[in-house]
Amino acid sequence: MTAPVGRNAIDINAGGLIGKKLPRVEGPLKVSGRAPYAYEVHPDGVEGVLYGYPVPAPIGLGSIGSIDTDAATASPGVIAVLTHDNMPQGYASGPALAAALKENRLVNPILASHVIDHYGQPVACVVAETFEQAVAAAALVKVECSADASPHFDLRTEQYDAPKPAGGPPPDSRKGDFDRAFGSCALRIDESYSTPAQSQAMMEPPATLAIWHDANSRDAKAPRLTLHTSHQIVDWAQEAVAALFGLDREAVEILSPYVGGGFGAKLQVLPDAILAAACAKVTGRPVKIALPRPQIFNATSHRSATIQWVQLGADRHGVLKAVAHRCWSGNLPDRTFYEQAAAQTRHLYATPNLLIEQRNAALNLTLAASMRAPGEAVGLLALESAMDQLAELGQIDPIELRLRNEPKTDPETGKPFSERRLVECLKLGADKFGWSKRTAPGQRSEGAWMIGMGMACAIRTNLNRPSGAKVTLSGDGRLLVQTSMTDIGTGTYTILTQIAAEMLGLDPSMVTVALGDTDFPASSGSGGSWGAGSSGSAVYDACMNLRARLAHEARIPADRAVFARGRIGDGRRRSQPLRALVRRGALVATGSISFGSFSEQYYEAAYGAHFAEVGIDRDSGEIRLRRMLGVFDIGRVLNHATARSQLIGGMTLGVGAALSENLVADTRSGAFINHDFAEYLIPVQADIGEIDAIMLDAVDDKTNPLKSKGAGEIGVCGAGAAVANAIHNACGARVRDYPITLDKIM
Ligand code: MOS
Repeated sequence: MTAPVGRNAIDINAGGLIGKKLPRVEGPLKVSGRAPYAYEVHPDGVEGVLYGYPVPAPIGLGSIGSIDTDAATASPGVIAVLTHDNMPQGYASGPALAAALKENRLVNPILASHVIDHYGQPVACVVAETFEQAVAAAALVKVECSADASPHFDLRTEQYDAPKPAGGPPPDSRKGDFDRAFGSCALRIDESYSTPAQSQAMMEPPATLAIWHDANSRDAKAPRLTLHTSHQIVDWAQEAVAALFGLDREAVEILSPYVGGGFGAKLQVLPDAILAAACAKVTGRPVKIALPRPQIFNATSHRSATIQWVQLGADRHGVLKAVAHRCWSGNLPDRTFYEQAAAQTRHLYATPNLLIEQRNAALNLTLAASMRAPGEAVGLLALESAMDQLAELGQIDPIELRLRNEPKTDPETGKPFSERRLVECLKLGADKFGWSKRTAPGQRSEGAWMIGMGMACAIRTNLNRPSGAKVTLSGDGRLLVQTSMTDIGTGTYTILTQIAAEMLGLDPSMVTVALGDTDFPASSGSGGSWGAGSSGSAVYDACMNLRARLAHEARIPADRAVFARGRIGDGRRRSQPLRALVRRGALVATGSISFGSFSEQYYEAAYGAHFAEVGIDRDSGEIRLRRMLGVFDIGRVLNHATARSQLIGGMTLGVGAALSENLVADTRSGAFINHDFAEYLIPVQADIGEIDAIMLDAVDDKTNPLKSKGAGEIGVCGAGAAVANAIHNACGARVRDYPITLDKIM
């Protein structure tokens, strides 16, 4: 099926299950420890599992002179020590590898040569009978290396180039004549901003159990390599692992049924998977590796630091005439990803003159890659701070300023919006939050606390990806849904259960959803907030096809068939149980969704408005979030409980970006030094105070058959700027160098 379907064949959500707060169907398994994550898997018949422990490079850019593995090899329980000298034949040499790197399907190919790309890159891996033996022996590996004389670790001192992205919009954009228009504006904001490097800091460490199968197996279709791993998009992992080891895609099986968070970090194949596969090949036994926390910070990926320059020119009523957003980020040399921090500025406010310029520096840090809302999450920290400053300059209420600059069509391209209910988000949020009680900066206090309110807009382009699904109705009336989609903690199991149950009129307890297996129909996977809409639409389509089959079997015209309570009827007297129509064991249907030119006719995005109230201790400068509210336009809500969790989780991430998250590189070694949860500060429950998210009762019939929009990343977009603007309102300080720590406001 090609999406979207403006008119649905059935009226989904007509009082049905979709949207309801169905509790997570896999929740009981997770809270009782019966949902095996990658490191906990014990497949039947798999014995003699070995443990690997990586040895990180002790320098930044440079090369390995020698690696002395003698002491480690002689250490108790050690089976092998892998280095770039004894990796399996064919590793990192196939032509497909360049393409996989270009598409950012993996971190840099580790142990491929003597070159060290960055500090902490694995340069060896010890394999032993037990984890403790591997850890002990890893400490005995002696790595002699020479550091390059001129490594680049600091974004502020580098040469910048135009990025060459593998896809997506071009980095630069121009409309009208910015310079001329800006020069003649009555109100002008001209400021620069910086955001630090950040870490995705997901809870579950990257972990893999790798198993090679007998190459002489008589079953030609059997996979040769199975990875039980933690990945957001198993089809991408399959492609990258096959490219690395010179295998056909079909020879690689990726299994990620449970993923303990990713936030973008698990879009790439990481060292645990690469090393486990290599070690298993070399030793001939299954190998398990989990990255220890310091190696997660230094051997996976991170969000690049950014420098941003925003210029806003408006007439004296605050109507924008000229908008420029320039940004600079970094990545390893020759990689295609850059932090597109100006992404939202193309689409958020009406302006006749627009200038977007994005540049990238070659840095010798870990891979810079996606972290939740790549682009918008940090871009809005700048743009929405600048808008707040413009409101103050023009003595216009910040919400009124947004209303005056609400575009009728997409500001960059002129395309119509699929649906844009930002104004409704702003008005409802202002009302619910009590925005009218906001005072001028520095005017409100409670004892030692200065209190302030701030707001900011949220926007994130809605993305779609092709997806497939298979549904199987068995003789007992149960329905099995299979797709390679993942659930990274977002609620995929639950929403796909709801969609399938509603489509076929089944109780949700009669539906089983199976995910995260490359044997299942290929799906979008989880990334870019596209997962729910894309994979949900594929399940929708598979269910539509199954409904047609069932109607045919029941001799009911498809358009008259009614599915309810496990039965199919003709809408009048006749009805029969679905299971009575199942012959030869099962009825199977597949479905797929693709997003063709239709989705290019409109600009699609999710929107929101954030409101924050902070308190600042007058004496110590301590900043506390007191209250936060987000109101969102995410199209149809597929599950109000799981969507709310995504939204307030995203908002919490935004609070961290505003106040505490800061991944610090030692500019001598290129090491990320605060490489654990003690020193890389993400907000916890006690940091957040009162938080809530409201979802508009909306549908967007241009996005997909479910009429939904991505909800995973919109929560973080703009959230930190609302906090920054509240800080300004509380104490008068406008900090543009994130995170806003107390030393910067004193
Ligand atoms: Mo998201 S940063 O694309 O997992």
